[in-house]
Amino acid sequence: MKIICHGGAGHTPKVQDGVDKAAEEGWKILKKTNNALLAATAATIVMEDDFRFNAGTGSCLRDDGRVQNDAAVATSDGKMGAITNLQDFKNPVLVARELLDEFVTMLAGEGAIQFALEKGFKKTKVIGSEKGWTGDTVGAVAQSSDGQIAVASSTGGVRGRPVGRVGDTPLWGSGFYCDKNIGILATGVGEAITEQLMCYRVYQYSEDLEEAMNWGVKLLPKDVGVGIIGIHSNGQIYGSSNTTMPFTIIKD
Ligand code: GLY
Repeated sequence: MKIICHGGAGHTPKVQDGVDKAAEEGWKILKKTNNALLAATAATIVMEDDFRFNAGTGSCLRDDGRVQNDAAVATSDGKMGAITNLQDFKNPVLVARELLDEFVTMLAGEGAIQFALEKGFKKTKVIGSEKGWTGDTVGAVAQSSDGQIAVASSTGGVRGRPVGRVGDTPLWGSGFYCDKNIGILATGVGEAITEQLMCYRVYQYSEDLEEAMNWGVKLLPKDVGVGIIGIHSNGQIYGSSNTTMPFTIIKD
C-alpha cells in the first residue's frame, strides 16, 4: 500500500502539516478499505476543506471574482471522470468521482452543476481566497495492496484567468493519467502543462519514475512552476518539481 499527496506547485512549506494530514487521512482509509480510489479522494477532500489550499473552499478567484473549480479522478482499471468550471460545490473531487461509472467522462459548467445536483450534492457558497494565488492544484495518488492505483486532483485554477478558462487538471494525459502501470498527477501553470501533454509524456519517457519526472519538470522554463507526483506498478513512488511543492508519502 502507498499514498502520495501534494499541496500544489508553488505553495509554501508552511502548509506541509495540511498535506501530512491529507496523507494520513488517505492512509487511514486505505488501511481500512484497501480501496485506492477512496483513499485518494479522502486525502484530496482534506485539502479541499483546508482554506490554505487552492482547491474547494480556498480556491483562488477568477478575474471577475467568482470561483470555478476543476477536478479529476481516474483508476487503473480504465475509468476516469473530470469536471470543469463547476460552481458552488464544496468538494468538486466527489462530483468528478461520480462520473467514473457513467458513460460520459467529462462535464463542464452548467452540465456539471446539473449532474452534481442529480447526484444529490447540495449547492454551497464557495467563498474562495482573495489572498491571491497561494499555490496550485492539490491531489493524491494511492495504491492498494492488490496493486490497484487511483488518482484524484482538484483545483481553483490560476488567479487572473477568465471565467470559463480550462487548465490542465481535468485534461486526460495533461493534468492526470492512470492505467495499470501508473498513476500520475501534475500541478502548476495549466496552459504550459497542457501544451506539453505532461503526464502522459512523463509516463512514456521512462519506467524509472525519478528519471521521467525530473525530465518532465524540465520541459517547462524554470520560471513556470510545475510539479508531478506518481506511483508506478514497479513499486516506485516519487514527486518532482521546479519550485516549492509540499508533498507527503506514506507506504508500508
Ligand atoms: N494547474 C491548475 C490550473 O492551471 O488550472
